[in-house]
Amino acid sequence: MAAYRLSFLSIPSAIAILMACHHPTKQAALAGPALLSLQLPAWAIADTSLRFDFPYDNPLTAEGAALGRMLFFEKALSADGSLSCASCHKQEFAFADSARFSPGMNSMRTTRNSMPLLNLAWDHFFFWDARALSLELQAFEPVTAHHEMASRWSEVGRRLAQDERYPPLFTSAFGDARIDSLRIAFALAQFERTMVSLDSRFDSYFYLKQRHALTPQEIRGKELFFTSAHCVDCHEPPLFKGHHVVNIGLDTVPIDLGMGGRTGMPWHLGRFKTPTLRNIAVTAPYMHDGRFATLEEVIDFYADDVFAASPTLDEHMLPWRKGEVRLSKQDRADLVAFLRTLTDSAFLSDKRFGPP
Ligand code: HEC
Ligand code: HEC
Repeated sequence: MAAYRLSFLSIPSAIAILMACHHPTKQAALAGPALLSLQLPAWAIADTSLRFDFPYDNPLTAEGAALGRMLFFEKALSADGSLSCASCHKQEFAFADSARFSPGMNSMRTTRNSMPLLNLAWDHFFFWDARALSLELQAFEPVTAHHEMASRWSEVGRRLAQDERYPPLFTSAFGDARIDSLRIAFALAQFERTMVSLDSRFDSYFYLKQRHALTPQEIRGKELFFTSAHCVDCHEPPLFKGHHVVNIGLDTVPIDLGMGGRTGMPWHLGRFKTPTLRNIAVTAPYMHDGRFATLEEVIDFYADDVFAASPTLDEHMLPWRKGEVRLSKQDRADLVAFLRTLTDSAFLSDKRFGPP
């Protein structure tokens, strides 16, 4: 634990603490931010697939997460002070945006649909094209992105340092009042990791064995999802996302090259992060470009319009290539009904994730 704490401190204070270990009167110097663990329902604690470690250099602390929450709602992060992270990641939409493309600075819009923010503690890559390999690295992008917040880090640091609320918060989270991009990103990442959503009607039914939590139609939809509709092959419970970046055959010729646009590899063309389906009923519109307005349209795509001849189609889409996925009108309605059971209404209004 001491090793964790040292990473918050400057070298001189670290040496002071090492010396303090041999000096009983200076033990108080060890008091630092308090380690926090994620609040999970009992079934999730027991689920080995939900075990994880916080990054060694950015453990979760009460003070760090509280600072991250302030920063998430802080408009001083954007060039003209009009946008915060929460402008494009709105709690009532599971921290996604109802706009297909969100308005940013310089009268520009994002080129992709905003993503929901939940259960990110378990993810290994971020953005639709998986270009950020940690939440810490992810947080660097929006602040300076020209079409998003369009700020300069030096300016953000200056503004926060002049706001009397911030220096004490940085001190309690990181040991001194220095404000820089790394600490801002670390605090944001900590707050985002606390955003756990695992309490839906599906969870009551499936994990808590409350057999009446779902209607017969929703149970039929669940059966399809887990068997012949092959949804579970990629959107895996308990998180209902996949640790894959895949091409599901949305386009004959991908307009947005996805992962391929970043790596330049032809076999990455049209590949995108497999998003979570938790809270999917409130995160419309759907897909990386928000092309589908409703869940019905999404299901119609999976039923009728998968471009199965795509050369980079994912291997998990083999049932589509073989023409095995056939969904009747009733099946489609049942699947949509099931997807709607994945909403965690408490999460959507949980004050811990609202404006500080
Ligand atoms: C102008 C709108 C906008 C603002 C402001 C914004 N975001 Fe985003 N966010 C997006 C969009 C759009 C994406 C998807 C972009 C892509 O994939 O290329 C995204 C993606 C993300 C992701 C990736 C989620 C995942 O599952 O991979 C995280 C995390 C995130 N944003 C956090 C933040 C934080 C933290 C801030 C504030 C520092 C912020 N965003 C500010 C629009 C915005
Ligand atoms: C091969 C893996 C794979 C399979 C199988 C699959 N999905 Fe997806 N799903 C994805 C990926 C990847 C995306 C994002 C694609 C994009 O935006 O380009 C996605 C997107 C979605 C979305 C929109 C999510 C959002 O936040 O916009 C929904 C809803 C969805 N899938 C439901 C389903 C259902 C229902 C099934 C079964 C009929 C299914 N998926 C089968 C990988 C898969």
